[in-house]
Amino acid sequence: MKKILVTGALGQIGSELTENLRSTYGEDNIIASDIRRPEQPAGIFEEIDVTKEKEIYEIAKKYNVDTIIHLAALLSAKAEAFPKVAWEINMGGLVNALEAAKELNLKFFTPSSIGAFGPSTPKDNTPQDTLQRPTTMYGVNKVAGELLCDYYYSRFGVDTRGVRFPGLISHVTAPGGGTTDYAVEVYYEAIRKKTYTSYIAEGTRMDMMYMPDALHAIVQLMEANPDRLKHRNAFNITAMSAAPEHFAEAIQKHIPDFKIDYQVDPVRQGIAESWPDAINASAAKEEWGFEAAYDIDDMTADMLDKVREKIKRNSA
Ligand code: SER
Repeated sequence: MKKILVTGALGQIGSELTENLRSTYGEDNIIASDIRRPEQPAGIFEEIDVTKEKEIYEIAKKYNVDTIIHLAALLSAKAEAFPKVAWEINMGGLVNALEAAKELNLKFFTPSSIGAFGPSTPKDNTPQDTLQRPTTMYGVNKVAGELLCDYYYSRFGVDTRGVRFPGLISHVTAPGGGTTDYAVEVYYEAIRKKTYTSYIAEGTRMDMMYMPDALHAIVQLMEANPDRLKHRNAFNITAMSAAPEHFAEAIQKHIPDFKIDYQVDPVRQGIAESWPDAINASAAKEEWGFEAAYDIDDMTADMLDKVREKIKRNSA
């Protein structure tokens, strides 16, 4: 990768990835884009509506990029609330991005998710290649997206790559409308109120990962030797399998009087229960050396520090 266009650059992953890429590949080599302009763009920024057929293509061509990292998408709970809009953004945006990559001969990354699995998928140690019959619009989009990326590779030779992200936890940009968002909110509430009411039930395990590991995985996969890749898209990756009470226990090591209680949201609980408890990431390890640096305790220590600083800054 030398010159990279990022779509969805103001989103949960995009806001941190863009900064990270700028420091590795140089300010002028990263073109951030999103549907709206930020108040103070930090570097090169373009407005792109990914659902408009040619907008990604035009900007990729204008800057002569060699890579598209396509992140613009709706998350699971939002997609359940607006399924048709989710189809238009998640699938319409993806096919437009892939077309741009095909026309301009670009490398291509887009994330899939643990949401690409469904209730009939094996829940524990979920294999890389397994049954995928998701029951959410987000899941339908993600499976179709995985297949579409494989198709653009095998049919047109586009260098498509991707991972299935677990729930991502970060202190920079809040996720919006995901099922795993509780695992971010819990840290803010721990600092603010020493108590958190979880909309996901006790005992509901899902795979999770700290954002620095997610960013590292994107770059590592994109720079991996293609000869080693037996899969191209949708590599299972994970750093931990955790339920709400595991976050509470990790937080209590720093804030002993922290308490968690539950007020379960049936929609997000239903989505969570349709996803795996713990996925198997051995293909990613073997084919491109994936490894997560943060477990739940390392992540919790860092999250609490960073969120505390942030809250202090914002209230100063
Ligand atoms: N974190 C995402 C969500 O909850 C899963 O990919 O929707």
